[in-house]
Order: sequence, then C-alpha cells, then structure tokens
Amino acid sequence: MSNNGNHSMKFSDATLAKVREIITHYPEGKQKSALLPLLHLAQEELGKGWLPVEVMDYVASLLNIQPIEVYEVVTFYTQYNQQPVGKHVLEVCITSPCCQLGAEEMVHYLEKKLGAKAGETTADKMFTIKPVECLAACGYAPMMQVGEHYYEKLTEEKVDRLLEKLRDTPYPALQKVEF
Ligand code: FES
Repeated sequence: MSNNGNHSMKFSDATLAKVREIITHYPEGKQKSALLPLLHLAQEELGKGWLPVEVMDYVASLLNIQPIEVYEVVTFYTQYNQQPVGKHVLEVCITSPCCQLGAEEMVHYLEKKLGAKAGETTADKMFTIKPVECLAACGYAPMMQVGEHYYEKLTEEKVDRLLEKLRDTPYPALQKVEF
C-alpha cells in the first residue's frame, strides 16, 4: 500500500484494516480489483454519501493507481454519487418493466411530495431523488433502493410511511426500515 500522508481525508484505522483485508482477496499486482468495495467504503465513511475528488484521489493512492482510473469507474456506475446528496438517496428504478407498473408515477409523486425534481436534493438535505436503471427486482415494482436496502411494491401510502421513518434513521441505514 502506498504512503497516503498527503491526504487530509483518511479512513479510520478500523476501515484501513478492512481495506488491507479486501486487497488480499486479489492476486499480487491486481489490487485495482478492490476499487469498487473501497469506493463504497469511501463514499460512506469519508464522503457522507458522495465522492469528492479529494476522496477519489485518496482511494487511488491506497491502490497505487492513477486518479483517472478511479474517476472512470465513479462516472460509470450510478451507485457512486459525483455531487453532494441528501442523507438518504431514493434510487427509483425507471427501466421499462418497472415503468409499466407505475415507476414514473412514483417519481412524480416523490417530486410533488418532497418539492424536488428527479436528480435533485430536498432543501433540508434529507432526500435525493435518483432515477436509476434496472435493480433486478423487476417483479416488485414500483421499487426503490435506499442505501443497501430494497423497498418494493410501493404505493403512495407506503412511500409516505417510509419517508417518515427514514427521516429519523441515521446515515447510513444499517438495517432495513420497517414501515
Ligand atoms: S426494471 Fe426495475 S428492477 Fe428491473
């Protein structure tokens, strides 16, 4: 692992131990393969839900790779956020099968209820509405992912209850919210 002393943002010792352990999963010289899990850790621990350039550069230094290699990955996958987000990111699947079961109406309902457009964050920084592509839960639409958890077969009433529960849930939500 490289010396990363120039970065003001750093993982905690516990997370650094986890990073070292993750890197051991890959063959010598293939440490770049650990990039995706490291970015998840970085987004959660250092970026409060998103990945500023400084954090991406720090991850590059941990893996001894070029920053551009990190930027390429971050801009490819929608699970990484490139700008500040709310405490909870509401990732609503808007791929065709979900749309046939009301996904677009669900996005419109969220926009109206939260006073923010798709892709935007609410004024109180609580929620970001983020339309995404298929999340492999096509039979359970309309659905959304919040953190690591799926919320399926949503109705307006269910969304109302879920949002209320999420307001009181710290980031990151470690457990699925019951609503
Ligand atoms: S189309 Fe929405 S989860 Fe697959």
